[in-house]
Amino acid sequence: MIRIRNLHKRFGSKMVLRGLNLEIQPGETMVIIGRSGEGKSVLLKCILSLIEPDRGEIWFNQENILALKESGRARFRQRCGMLFQGGALFDSLTIEENVGFGLRRMKNYGEERIRKIVREKLALVGLKEIEHLYPAELSGGMKKRVALARAIALDPEIILYDEPTTGVDPIMADAINELINEMNRKLPVSSIAVTHDMVSAYKIADRIALLHQGRIVEVGTPAQIKRTCNPLVRQFVTGSAHGPISLI
Ligand SMILES: Nc1ncnc2c1ncn2[C@@H]1O[C@H](COP(=O)(O)OP(=O)(O)O)[C@@H](O)[C@H]1O
Ligand SMILES: [Mg+2]
Repeated sequence: MIRIRNLHKRFGSKMVLRGLNLEIQPGETMVIIGRSGEGKSVLLKCILSLIEPDRGEIWFNQENILALKESGRARFRQRCGMLFQGGALFDSLTIEENVGFGLRRMKNYGEERIRKIVREKLALVGLKEIEHLYPAELSGGMKKRVALARAIALDPEIILYDEPTTGVDPIMADAINELINEMNRKLPVSSIAVTHDMVSAYKIADRIALLHQGRIVEVGTPAQIKRTCNPLVRQFVTGSAHGPISLI
């Protein structure tokens, strides 16, 4: 469904993505793990054309997104839902306005219809009767749920999750993981999640890919990753300071 070929991105002299290859199958949840600063968020932003890669291809079905003009890219972006790291809700807008933001901008729906969709999406993430509140009035976990409701508001075919469990307590993290699994069961979507949380990776992934020094160095099911012989992957998944991955 998505095929990323030979993706390169550098910022000044800093090489971030150095020939990244990855394929995501229809309906699959692919979890990309990697250390902080490895380029996980940059990769998601490249997929959404929020960052322009230097080289490479990103195929969605039969189309190379990077070969499209802005209008074509915008159309593709509409088919993706993104859960940004930290949620990125608009503080000065109500929950209703946050979740309905994309709908009001992209669709010619009447107010009644938009409010109904917002209610349905909030119900899907387990929230109700909070439309009139502002983000500051919600707990961290509720904000993540609202951000997820906003990400699915336009019925995306692909959901991108940037560190969905980072910065929340383990119990809330588990609830978010279950919510992600529920979304994938209920909705006909493919998902890409990036994280350094292995508990989350094992819980939500169909397959896990390790991003290291700008490339995917291994891809496998959680069971395969757990018993891999690759010392890089072993060091990462066991969270060890000792191994081939240097700390500096
Ligand atoms: N817009 C930008 N301009 C310059 N450097 C950037 C930009 N975005 C990301 N970087 C750099 O790219 C590297 C990867 O960042 P990022 O993708 O955010 O890492 P992570 O894997 O933690 O999500 C970091 O060194 C970061 O400083
Ligand atoms: Mg990041």
